Amino acid sequence: MSNNDRGSWSSRFGFVVAAAGSAIGLGNIWKFPYITYENDGGAFVLVYLLCIVAIGIPIMTAEMLIGRKTQKNAVGAFKELGGNKWKIVGGLGVVTGFVLLSYYSVIAGWTLEYFFKSVSGSFNGLSEQEVGNQFGTFVTNPFKQVFWHGLFMSLTVFVIMGGVAKGIERVTKILMPVLLGIFVILLIQSLQTGGAGKALTFLFRPNFSELTFDSVLEAVGHSFFTLSLGMGTIITYGSYMRKGDSLPKSALIVSGLDTCIAMVACMVIYPIIFSFDLVPTKSAGILFTTLPVIFVKMPGGTFFAPLFFALVAFAALTSTISLLEVVVSYFVDEFKWERKKATAGTGFLIFMLGILSALSNGAHQGLSNLNIIGKTSTVGFFNTFDYLVSNWMLPIGGLLIAVFVGWILQSSVKEEEFHDGEQTFFKYNHWNFLLRFVSPVAVAIIIIAVIFGREFQ
Ligand code: PFF
Repeated sequence: MSNNDRGSWSSRFGFVVAAAGSAIGLGNIWKFPYITYENDGGAFVLVYLLCIVAIGIPIMTAEMLIGRKTQKNAVGAFKELGGNKWKIVGGLGVVTGFVLLSYYSVIAGWTLEYFFKSVSGSFNGLSEQEVGNQFGTFVTNPFKQVFWHGLFMSLTVFVIMGGVAKGIERVTKILMPVLLGIFVILLIQSLQTGGAGKALTFLFRPNFSELTFDSVLEAVGHSFFTLSLGMGTIITYGSYMRKGDSLPKSALIVSGLDTCIAMVACMVIYPIIFSFDLVPTKSAGILFTTLPVIFVKMPGGTFFAPLFFALVAFAALTSTISLLEVVVSYFVDEFKWERKKATAGTGFLIFMLGILSALSNGAHQGLSNLNIIGKTSTVGFFNTFDYLVSNWMLPIGGLLIAVFVGWILQSSVKEEEFHDGEQTFFKYNHWNFLLRFVSPVAVAIIIIAVIFGREFQ
């Protein structure tokens, strides 16, 4: 199959929308608001923003560069630039995508159940306790867990079968503006609840005495997860980019959008919670246990609740398709499989693997433990997979990508690619410095910290 058959984005906008779709997902809407809540806001948010700038944007640019330079999947790209030794980094990415998608799709499936629950008004009149119980019953119902996970995987497979421009790009171009529109409506609504001032103070007033080493580690790890870095997703999407599209500008726009959405998600969720004086008992459950209660009490809640869960489902879908594309492009490029066959085959296997997470009772406990860097998971496949992916695979992948592009790849290749396309204030020298000295060192510190000690706390 020649490169031309791989497909490409129809424009730079196509790439930016798809990459932003990948980045913006459960990580922004579900995870960021609750880890920020757990880590006491302000100072944590500041560290997170620093991580996006110093680690996330440089590595995202590096991934785009590898992809666009080679026009290949993650494994093929590393093979071309670094030989067989470095191919392993791409391979690690494909495996990570496989595992990550298998459990991500389980939670994504929950958003569908909650969408239908809120449409049918099944939260009406329930107390917080009852909504919590309902959630507990739901996550331990094997039929429902497998059903929604299967449905979400089917949707993902359906989009990926359509290919790059006609599948991924077309769907994300529709879903992303819808998502932004829904967010704006919810934001306006939420700012009127009277809790906006408290929410802003919580988010933006740093209190460094509350900042722990753990919070810093969590912020570093989350910057990988939220920007879809460390497993070749942006390499893969970058491989469908055209020459002449600016790498630094695209990286800045995608990371900027992702960060804004994470902040807006907090500004949608916190004012509602603060104005109703509800302190979420389990902060990880905000999305599925606290919000439904609030929506029921809120004027217009029966309208806003389904809107909200639809939004989360859309955001999750544009992320799951990027995860599946990493795996599919590998089989299409390297083994010359037909796209539809590769998609159906790998999608089915990922669905099967995901059943383990869907059925593990750990999924319930996983909700409170799901943590990008850190907490050891002891129960269930769901926790174990997330632990492996978030604590090990993404950071190690990110570190290796930074080392490869920072130290191994020829400067002439880097400079040429970086300068191809519009330039911004984010110059080659800034990027190269961050990629060589800041990103790998910061990531190495997390990995060492995870190895020594955090698990024993
Ligand atoms: N960035 C996505 C989120 O924040 O939900 C998750 C994700 C997607 C991680 C794709 C990694 C990836 F390759």
